[in-house]
Amino acid sequence: MRQNKANAANRQARLKQTPEKPATFAGATLMYAAQAFGLASCPMGGFDPDGVAREFALGPQEIPVMLLAVGHGEAGNWPPKPRRAVADALGLA
Ligand SMILES: Cc1cc2nc3c(=O)[nH]c(=O)nc-3n(C[C@H](O)[C@H](O)[C@H](O)COP(=O)(O)O)c2cc1C
Repeated sequence: MRQNKANAANRQARLKQTPEKPATFAGATLMYAAQAFGLASCPMGGFDPDGVAREFALGPQEIPVMLLAVGHGEAGNWPPKPRRAVADALGLA
């Protein structure tokens, strides 16, 4: 009985963590696809997951992990934030 409870808690914890990895790849792929169609996109992790689940009628096994806004980039929009050069952030071993 006690073991069953521990297993259920473990499964719940894994269920919460697991979707983030594939969702990140899916989100990046959608961003590339949007760009190929001439659209801009912006990922967001700061949202109310219960509100999203309610609005989209998600089931208990469906966990929203990211929102991706997609639309037409505005001319004269603010410039991208400064970033380190790719060569400073990535290395090949
Ligand atoms: C996974 C992920 C989640 C993000 N979540 C948020 C968010 O909840 N709110 C926010 O203001 N920016 C968020 N950002 C950052 C914006 O998507 C965007 O990259 C940032 O505002 C920098 O804009 P820029 O790409 O035009 O420089 C997130 C970025 C990533 C990669």
